[in-house]
Amino acid sequence: MTTYITTPIYYVNAMPHLGHAYTTIVTDTYSRFRKLCGDDVRFQTGTDEHGEKIAQAAEADGVSPKEYADRISESFRNTWPSLAIAPDNFIRTTDPAHVRTVQQILQQVYDRDDIYFSEYTGLYCQGCERFLTDKELVDGNCPDHQKPPKEIAEQNYFFRMSRYQEWLIDHIQSNPEFITPERYRNEVLSFLSEPLEDLCISRPTSRLTWGIPLPFDNNFVTYVWFDALINYLTGIGYPDGPDFQRYWSAAEHVIAKDILKPHAIYWPTMLKAMGVEPYKRLHVHGYWNVDETKMSKSIGNVIRPGELVELYGVDTVRYFVLREMSFGLDASFSTEAIIERQNSDLANDLGNLFSRSLTMIGKYADNTVPEPYKGLLNDLDRDLINAVEHMVSEYRRNMNSFNFNLALREVWKVIGMMNRFIVTNAPWELAKDTSREKRLMTVLYFLAESLRILALVLRPVMPDAAAKMAEALGLGAELENATLDTAGKWGLSTPGTRIAPGQQLFPRLDKKKKQAPPPQKDAGRKNKEREKKEEGLITFDQFGKMELRVARIVAAEKIAKADKLLKLTVAAPEERTIVAGIAQHYTPEQLIGRLVLIVANLKPAKLMGVTSQGMVLAAKETDENGKERLVLATVADTIAPGSKIS
Ligand code: MSP
Repeated sequence: MTTYITTPIYYVNAMPHLGHAYTTIVTDTYSRFRKLCGDDVRFQTGTDEHGEKIAQAAEADGVSPKEYADRISESFRNTWPSLAIAPDNFIRTTDPAHVRTVQQILQQVYDRDDIYFSEYTGLYCQGCERFLTDKELVDGNCPDHQKPPKEIAEQNYFFRMSRYQEWLIDHIQSNPEFITPERYRNEVLSFLSEPLEDLCISRPTSRLTWGIPLPFDNNFVTYVWFDALINYLTGIGYPDGPDFQRYWSAAEHVIAKDILKPHAIYWPTMLKAMGVEPYKRLHVHGYWNVDETKMSKSIGNVIRPGELVELYGVDTVRYFVLREMSFGLDASFSTEAIIERQNSDLANDLGNLFSRSLTMIGKYADNTVPEPYKGLLNDLDRDLINAVEHMVSEYRRNMNSFNFNLALREVWKVIGMMNRFIVTNAPWELAKDTSREKRLMTVLYFLAESLRILALVLRPVMPDAAAKMAEALGLGAELENATLDTAGKWGLSTPGTRIAPGQQLFPRLDKKKKQAPPPQKDAGRKNKEREKKEEGLITFDQFGKMELRVARIVAAEKIAKADKLLKLTVAAPEERTIVAGIAQHYTPEQLIGRLVLIVANLKPAKLMGVTSQGMVLAAKETDENGKERLVLATVADTIAPGSKIS
């Protein structure tokens, strides 16, 4: 079989974060899973580089849009290998071949009268880069960007999307797998129950030049979505490249719910107008929040994949996101949750099973996979074989339908069962009695054989840990080329294979301490870079030590021979003296009665003979002549003196 799997192409106006990483990890995992099933797989990701948002971000940065796009696109490209993500193609919408094909398609759709020129007045959301309908607004705002859209009236080109509405409804209804999970399929069908409007697909060059010019009117550039969606075709050489023939009928797209409408409505109707068959499946996932809060730059809680990998290692990051999120629903990231998964599922359940099994094979079977004695199998053994075989089929079914968390749950059921199998059989007891040698060897064979199958099924999820497992089990190259069909059956371990005990797969992490990064090849350089970035930054702990309070100035006087200093008496609520360097900005009279903010736990210091017990906070402003002005920081007058600032 063939599989063609894609991620969205990411806008180059933001650096990669956990959300982008999740979609791309899912897609990589699925790609590896289909390879494990023996498929001919193509996996594509890339960057979306045209449009208003990018033009504005570049302008704010003082560089050309292309320079800007080159830089951010590169950082996406470089992020993926650190997460063990291995795409077969990385497409950029500024690639000349993509631009050429988008223009060909526009011309083709225009020639068949599916694009027309008209005037339009609509509500435009810059964040979404599209016109919104009244129905989509929540309290007058775009629900995704929390801002009111702008009313814009202009002449533009339109795609006759409405022409394909009935066809699309019919297609979705007769192909239950076209959009999954079901909630998103229902959402699209409900949207389609109202008349579909045509889609505005151009922007006048008077407003935007950073886009692909329309081949039939160079006063306009293409709307960014009409350009971006086509990447899924240009990346495989549409219209006449051999890879297009080879992969298109197997196309599956992975996205989050934010871009459901362009993928579930614009894209299939565009394909229909082009005479290309629709993609096979659209997989829609939910959003990652952080500590139950939306991830956002302004809140400052954006999680960067590079930092996660540095702290927890690539396998833990991949396992965590796949295990923690139910595909289709939102999930919340927290440090506690990832540490808990690493300690309990990885270090404890899997890691311990792996190291104690190999240690016992080392000790009791001279580092080789022993011969099992099939005639001696008991119910416990047969239960384990059944459980492993059941797990492989459940794993296959769940991975195929993007229920990664359920697939992993099945795998962990077997891990739990194997840990119990060890305790029940107690190989250390069997080893004390030579008459039970055959039983001991059978038990050890069972452990080696179950671990072999675990290494196989974990490969798409944790490629590095699975490779380590395979190597320690003496299976390096053998598992590399194996498929679920050829290797996913019980009983294929070869007695006599040499194993290598002594490897730890996952360290346990201390929940309270900041974690030391796992050893990495270029950890030294990375640490230095991080330290450099962190120079001048303080930690939460350091900030937490500072005691800031509201205080009322009850008296103020000049200090003799010090023209910059004033002696203040403040109540917070107890009275104390503070010397402040604000004499050139405030007269004592101006200060009496005012509320100010003070650092209350500063060590006392003597200034011009007066002991100062704290510091008053002020903002320093420099005017256009370079002259400095100090303005005292304050709070609303209703706050009681002595209140802590936190
Ligand atoms: N350029 C368009 C997509 C064009 S595809 C033809 C775009 N880019 S984007 O950079 O905004 O990426 C959106 C995608 O990033 C989401 O659909 C999802 O895959 C991922 N995520 C961004 N934030 C996310 C979360 N907080 N949580 C999960 N995934 C999210 O839209």
